[in-house]
Amino acid sequence: MKALILVGGYGTRLRPLTFSCPKPCVEFANKPILEHQLAALVKVGVTDVVLAIAYQPEAMHELQSKLSAKYNINIICSQETTPLGTAGPIAAARHILQPNPDEKTYFFVLNSDVICDYPFQEMIDFHKAHGKQGTLVVTPVDDPSKYGVVVSSEQHEILSFVEKPKKFISNKINAGLYLFTSTVLDRIENKPTSIEREIFPIMAKDRELCSLTLKGFWMDIGQPKDFLAGLELYLNFLSTKSPESLIKGSKYLGDVLIDESAIIEDGCLIGPNVCIGPGVKIESGTRIASSVILAGSTIGAHSWIRGSIIGWRCRIGRWVRIEGLTVLGENVQVKDEVCFNEIIVLPHKEVKESEMVKGKIL
Ligand code: GDD
Ligand code: MG
Repeated sequence: MKALILVGGYGTRLRPLTFSCPKPCVEFANKPILEHQLAALVKVGVTDVVLAIAYQPEAMHELQSKLSAKYNINIICSQETTPLGTAGPIAAARHILQPNPDEKTYFFVLNSDVICDYPFQEMIDFHKAHGKQGTLVVTPVDDPSKYGVVVSSEQHEILSFVEKPKKFISNKINAGLYLFTSTVLDRIENKPTSIEREIFPIMAKDRELCSLTLKGFWMDIGQPKDFLAGLELYLNFLSTKSPESLIKGSKYLGDVLIDESAIIEDGCLIGPNVCIGPGVKIESGTRIASSVILAGSTIGAHSWIRGSIIGWRCRIGRWVRIEGLTVLGENVQVKDEVCFNEIIVLPHKEVKESEMVKGKIL
C-alpha cells in the first residue's frame, strides 16, 4: 500500500524553529514529526511513501534517505515548482499512487503536523466496509474555528465540510488523515488546489466521504502552544502504552522523556511534561517544566524554564528565567541572569539583556 504526506507548508506558525528546517523535520518527542507517521504507516504494510515537498528540499532529502534506510521503505520526494496546495500534490503523484490506471488502488494522504495514536488499520477496515471514495478521520475539539469542520450522518456519511468556518457548525473536525480509493484522482487536477475548500465540499455533496471518529488524543502541533499541548498528551499516552520509555527518579516529576545521551546534573528538578533531546546538558540546580529542549543545547546552573521551547544548540547562561511560551531559534546564546516572558528569539542571536515585553521578537 502507498501513502502521500503533505510536507510542503511554510510552517510559518512554528517559527523560529522552521527557519532552520521544515516543520516535518522538527523533533517532536525526540523524533522528527514525520518519523512518527512513517513508523505507524510501516506497521500496517505501507511500502511506498510520497513526500509532497514545496520548500527547503535539501533538509527533506536528508531525512528521506535516513528514514528509508531505517524503516526499509521506498520514500519518493515529489517536488513542486509552485506550491500545489493540499490536493494538487495528489494529482502530481498520480503515476505513483495508481501506476496502472485500470487497477483500483487505495492510498493514505496525511497532513504532516498531526500527532495521535494513528488509527491506520482501523481506517483500512472501515474504508473497505463502506466502499465510498474517501475516509476522513475526525475528532472533537473545543474550538473548531481553526480547523476543517465536518457534519456527518449517524451512518458516518459526511454531509458537509467547511474549512475554518466563521460560524459554529459542529465541534467535529478534520484530523488531517485520509484514506482514498484511486477513483478520487478523477476529481483532482495537477494545479494549485485546496482539498479542504475545493474537493471535500463536493465529495460531501456526492456522499462519497465517510468519517471515522478517532479514539484517544489528537493535536495539530503546527504552532508553539499546540506543540507543547501535544507533547503533554503524547507523554501521557506513553505513560500508559510504554511507561519504560519515560524516565523516573528523584530528579524527575511526572512524565519526562530524555534522550540517553543527555546529561542532567545533580540538584535539578525536571517535569512534568518535559522532553530533552540528544546531547543536551542541564547544569546543576535547574528547574524545567512543560518545555522542550532540542538537541545540543546547554542550560546553565540554577536556571528556570517553564512552558517554552529551546531550539537546537542554544547556550543558556546561569540564573536565567525563561517562561510564558518563549521560543528560542537555533543557536541562541543567552547571558547569565537574563529573563524572558513570551518572547521569540530568532536563530543565531546573542542576548545580553532581559526582555519582558510579551510577544516581542528579538
Ligand atoms: N506539498 C504541499 N504543498 N503541502 C502543503 C502545501 C503545499 O502547497 N500547503 C500546505 N501543505 C501541507 C502542510 O505542510 C501540512 O502538512 C498540510 O498541508 C496542512 O497544512 P496546514 O497549514 O498545517 O493546515 P491547517 O493546520 O491550517 O489545516 C489543515 O489541518 C487541520 C488539522 O490539523 C486542514 O486540513 C484542516 O481541515 C484540518 O482540520
Ligand atoms: Mg496544520
